Amino acid sequence: MLDINTEIIGRKVIYLQEVESTNELAKKIAPQEEEGTIIVADIQRRGRGRKLRKWISPKGGLWMSVILKPNVHLVHITKLVFVSALAVVETLAEFGIEGKIKWPNDVLVNRKKICGILSEGKYSTDSVEYVVLGIGLNVNNEIPVDLLDVAISMKDVLGFRVPLVEVFRNLLEKLDKWYLRYLDGQYALILEEWKAYSAVIGKEVRIVGDNEEIIGTAVDVSDDGSLIIALKDGTLKKIYYGDVSLRFS
Ligand code: ATP
Ligand code: BTN
Repeated sequence: MLDINTEIIGRKVIYLQEVESTNELAKKIAPQEEEGTIIVADIQRRGRGRKLRKWISPKGGLWMSVILKPNVHLVHITKLVFVSALAVVETLAEFGIEGKIKWPNDVLVNRKKICGILSEGKYSTDSVEYVVLGIGLNVNNEIPVDLLDVAISMKDVLGFRVPLVEVFRNLLEKLDKWYLRYLDGQYALILEEWKAYSAVIGKEVRIVGDNEEIIGTAVDVSDDGSLIIALKDGTLKKIYYGDVSLRFS
């Protein structure tokens, strides 16, 4: 009925009018589900961002999670956020919108957040049980007034509403394409494309952690998903996805 043309992503789609959080539900059912299963909801009552931040999820947006079970080494897991960001940026391009990727997990348009990605999972050092990739894309939803400085929707960029189901279908197809490349070990291509769309490479940035702040120029991204920063004295430092925030200086 949705006519989704994919191999893995969206083999099964669970649609709900309302849910607490698609990521929470996906984590609950992941052990029993085959990979590629999608949970998508019109409204999330308790959508979450990183660090347990609130993700505003009213009707009109695309709030979804995908369950993956890749048979890869742990070092490759962070690149799944890159895979998702690439799929989002390519989907935006289909609708005439130029998105930029902000390490580690945001997609920006005009420096405002149009999409956030939340990757969670269960893994041990030698195997991956499952990964849940949560994608929140502002499509036709209203952005709350207090977020207007930092958030934007596709509708606000274009000046008109876009068919949500078309955005969903497009995103699943792009995700499928990039996930198949990922499973095929095309990591170098993923990193290269990610860099091409990056909002941070070549920019002076501030990395804010709990106890320290690092200022430098973002120069590259590593195979393990870490961001490489050149400090003022020329030393290179790797910043790992975790409890750090990136700010533009
Ligand atoms: P960081 O740089 O640490 O990732 P962040 O501000 O991007 O910081 P996240 O945890 O990634 O924070 O994302 C959650 C933040 O996103 C919230 O603090 C809120 O400001 C913002 N937010 C919440 N709902 C939306 C939405 N629908 N669209 C855009 N931004 C949102
Ligand atoms: C972030 O920017 O911190 C990530 C935001 C992720 C939001 C999506 S919406 C679908 C999925 N369910 C959630 O509760 N969060 C993610």
